[in-house]
Amino acid sequence: MEGMLEDPVFRHREVLTPDYIPNYFPNRMNQIKTISQLVYEFLQGNATHIFIHGPPGTGKTASVKFIFKNLREEALACYVNCFNKNTRMAVLHSMFLDFFKQKRPTHMMPSRRGIAYDELLGSFCEELRKAKTKIVVCLDEVDHFEENDLIYDLIRAGSDGVHVQIISISNDPLVFKNLDPRVKSSLFPIEEMAFNPYTKKEMAEIIRERVDAAFREDVVTKDAVDYLAEFTAEHKGDVRIARETLLRAGNLARKSGEKVEFHHIKEILEKTQYSSSVVVLSKLSEKERFILKLIPDQGINFPQLYDFYQTTNGHLGDRMFRNYVEKFARLKLINMERKGNGGAYFITLNTPKEVLFEMR
Ligand SMILES: Nc1ncnc2c1ncn2[C@@H]1O[C@H](COP(=O)(O)OP(=O)(O)OP(=O)(O)O)[C@@H](O)[C@H]1O
Ligand SMILES: [Mg+2]
Repeated sequence: MEGMLEDPVFRHREVLTPDYIPNYFPNRMNQIKTISQLVYEFLQGNATHIFIHGPPGTGKTASVKFIFKNLREEALACYVNCFNKNTRMAVLHSMFLDFFKQKRPTHMMPSRRGIAYDELLGSFCEELRKAKTKIVVCLDEVDHFEENDLIYDLIRAGSDGVHVQIISISNDPLVFKNLDPRVKSSLFPIEEMAFNPYTKKEMAEIIRERVDAAFREDVVTKDAVDYLAEFTAEHKGDVRIARETLLRAGNLARKSGEKVEFHHIKEILEKTQYSSSVVVLSKLSEKERFILKLIPDQGINFPQLYDFYQTTNGHLGDRMFRNYVEKFARLKLINMERKGNGGAYFITLNTPKEVLFEMR
């Protein structure tokens, strides 16, 4: 009878789901410690703001959420993803909701209908003062935040006894470059932290940890883990891909009754890479695909790409062209890396060229 009713593959399948926050982050504990320390100092009265940047899947969001889990007793912890909430009203409203959830669970949040921004901000600050609570705000994907004068307004309220610490997150290390100087200086002092892509060794440690928690013993072979670590490390060190691949592999193993072996992982990786870019690419216009195809395999600097585009009789101005390129980066079709200190970007294609050229 032993094990009959138990899942033969997973011990804790939820460990591989997107919202799961582990209790231990291999190779990120130093960063988590630094951030926690700065939050602690803020609670003691010393506010340093924080800016975290790095490529997709390097643990930026997860690290902050992990810290926030334990913060709720001591402060108001507001996590806002500016990709969905990109106006100051939306962000402010989301923080207000968090306030009621965390500090006034038995009260109803007043409706924001017909309330102007200044009024909402005023009553939010009023509530914070009354509750004598400090507030730590995480603005994730902050590059999508259109009306970031809210940052300035919140920090300025500091002179009225409102204490705010801002943690911003972005893929783009230069996101604050074009920020209104007023907003920029309000964010001073700011601690900048780079979350670099994981190396193969680091990735293997992270995967091992998840495999041990999620799967039963010996279900995933060592070769499978090694291959997954190698592949994901070579593809920008994105843990998200590793996690999703493990979940699919486990589901497959449940159906087939086999172990998770090297060739299962390989097949899944090949398929996902292909299909995920097909979906995104199919939504692009012809003009957009044309621009993408101009990017050579070895990568190219932004100004050169624009020059090259112009030689093809492209009519877009520099600004518009840049908007397209930034959109590709947002869709993760390309990677933009800062090169040197002139603010130049180095662009590499993140999607298989075959797929791009196969599409009409
Ligand atoms: N060091 C780590 N240890 C364990 N899990 C990790 C680690 N780094 C990332 N992860 C996991 O990888 C997944 C992606 O991480 P996260 O969402 O934090 O990425 P991100 O850096 O915010 O990426 P993006 O820029 O695309 O938003 C999450 O499931 C997270 O738990
Ligand atoms: Mg994130």
